[in-house]
Amino acid sequence: MPATIIVGAQWGDEGKGKATDLLADATDLVVRYQGGNNAGHTVIVGDEVFKLHLIPSGILYPHVTPVIGDGVVVDPEVVLGELDGLDERGLDPYGRVKVSGNAHLIMPYHRELDLLIERRLGKAKLGTTKRGIGPAYADKASRVGLRFQDLFDEKIFRQKLEAALVHKNEQLSRIYNRLPMSADEIAEEYLGYAERLRPLLTDTTDLIHTSLEAGRHIILEGAQGTLLDLDHGTYPFVTSSNPVAGGALTGAGLGPRHVDRVIGITKAYVTRVGAGPFPTELDGDIAERMTEHGGEYGTTTGRRRRVGWFDAVLARYANRVNGFTDLFLTKLDVLSEFDELRVCVAYRYEGETYEHFPPHQSIIHHAEPVYETMPGWKTDITDVTRYDDLPAEARAYVERLEELADAPVTWVSVGPKRSQTLVRRDVPLVPGT
Ligand code: IMP
Repeated sequence: MPATIIVGAQWGDEGKGKATDLLADATDLVVRYQGGNNAGHTVIVGDEVFKLHLIPSGILYPHVTPVIGDGVVVDPEVVLGELDGLDERGLDPYGRVKVSGNAHLIMPYHRELDLLIERRLGKAKLGTTKRGIGPAYADKASRVGLRFQDLFDEKIFRQKLEAALVHKNEQLSRIYNRLPMSADEIAEEYLGYAERLRPLLTDTTDLIHTSLEAGRHIILEGAQGTLLDLDHGTYPFVTSSNPVAGGALTGAGLGPRHVDRVIGITKAYVTRVGAGPFPTELDGDIAERMTEHGGEYGTTTGRRRRVGWFDAVLARYANRVNGFTDLFLTKLDVLSEFDELRVCVAYRYEGETYEHFPPHQSIIHHAEPVYETMPGWKTDITDVTRYDDLPAEARAYVERLEELADAPVTWVSVGPKRSQTLVRRDVPLVPGT
């Protein structure tokens, strides 16, 4: 059976965990392919709320094997904390979670540098999650990173650490006036984690391919979103990895022919955490109501999310970059608040109209949204269980977004629970079943 990619169509926090939840029953492996503990998934199963940062949300389903692929960056202390929390809730994470030996490690100097670099940038800061993600990926690209497999070979670990620290300590002391870090202390801490982490070390490429060969279904679960992609997002206000569908292939280690569904997750409006352009951003009373009604506070950092109207220019772009077979529209219920809804159909800048994502960053920064106005439905829709039972205005809204994004909306979510997902197009959950 083929693989399904689940990818955020906006700036992250679109509700990707909900799509995984929907497909989990028909799935054997859930693979995280990029990012690290900058992510935050909130998944509600029954009456239980789980907040996950690094461990794939597949852990919540006993028949699923959660996999951390080659493209992920792993902070061992954070992983252990998350594993222990899940262990207490009886989910046997030490027996089930698999981590690629090629995943890179987030080291203490990555966390420290993330803080210092942001501080030095002052007003120009990116608003990172301060988890060391960018510096860890930078070291990976510079070929001075340490990998998960290195934890289990003390000699190699120390060699690589000492080599990396020469440069890091110069940076810390000369540029940032900090005390140098001790290789012995870091080695003692990290090698101390190795014993407990050893059962997780897996040849995940082999696991993924033997599963595919055996006809099992795989979810490749993205973190963050398309507009935070290092290559395709609103650079430099992006994360340091590739959340887009292409990143799923490199980050998990499989070719495009294995994938036959790409689900784009998009909120019925837009949110963003951290700095960077956001053409449809709102402030004042509407923003306040959207934030409060949508519970728009980050799972990882608790930061208040910026909010704005749905932006079809972004949606069309995300569709182009990822090739969505389906859209999963989340949080439609949050819009029940408003008498009128606005949808951005194009940008205007210096007399030009852009229906597609502008090629130049300055345009995105200064773009003025061109809005279409649609009537709201002003009715609580959280108990609706069939798409056709939604108020006509809500259906018209969904169908207009679909038309503008140029990708079919298959699911619409009207609340956090699994039962609050409406099926708009009756297609098999897993293709071929
Ligand atoms: P970093 O990934 O911590 O380097 O942060 C880079 C940018 O990505 C910042 O604007 C963060 O707020 C944003 N970001 C990182 N992870 C997430 C996420 O899971 N959801 C939303 N924004 C994120």
